[in-house]
Amino acid sequence: MMNDVALEFTLNGEPCSVTIDVRTTLLDLLREHLGLIGAKKGCDHGQCGACTVLLGGRRVNACLLLAVALQGADVTTIEGLADAETGELHRLQQAFIDHDAFQCGYCTPGQICSAVGMLAEVREGMPSFASEDLRASRFALDGPEIRERMSGNLCRCGAYVNIVAAVSDVAGEEGL
Ligand code: FES
Ligand code: FES
Repeated sequence: MMNDVALEFTLNGEPCSVTIDVRTTLLDLLREHLGLIGAKKGCDHGQCGACTVLLGGRRVNACLLLAVALQGADVTTIEGLADAETGELHRLQQAFIDHDAFQCGYCTPGQICSAVGMLAEVREGMPSFASEDLRASRFALDGPEIRERMSGNLCRCGAYVNIVAAVSDVAGEEGL
């Protein structure tokens, strides 16, 4: 069709080729065309974080990205976080289970992908609004830092206390 475009990118470590309408968002591509329904559609306009995935290791809202802009990109979704060979869960996935960090689970894939991206940002020395010294090269991930850095991910069930505990556990293991 006139509006269709061929797209090639890497999805969860595997090459992916698909022909889509140029108006398709990354979230709709994942959920409606590729059957990856881990990323959730909460608001569909960048407010809730339920659709968070990783683009080249950076967390992004999949509902705000046109898939056509992802030519050659590297996308990781919640389905790609566990070890592909052994099935062993990502440390953050396991920590969410250990800390009972969800109720309905709707926000959880986005929370976990966001936390993966957030820990990478901290390792790279990126400050947050809660950081006292913006020029510091290391930031201790205490409760306020984690809450601020994860504030783009809403949880209607209010599981925030346990989400912070889960993220804090993994941050502590990494010496952050
Ligand atoms: S569905 Fe994308 S931010 Fe809410
Ligand atoms: S666990 Fe239900 S919205 Fe977060």
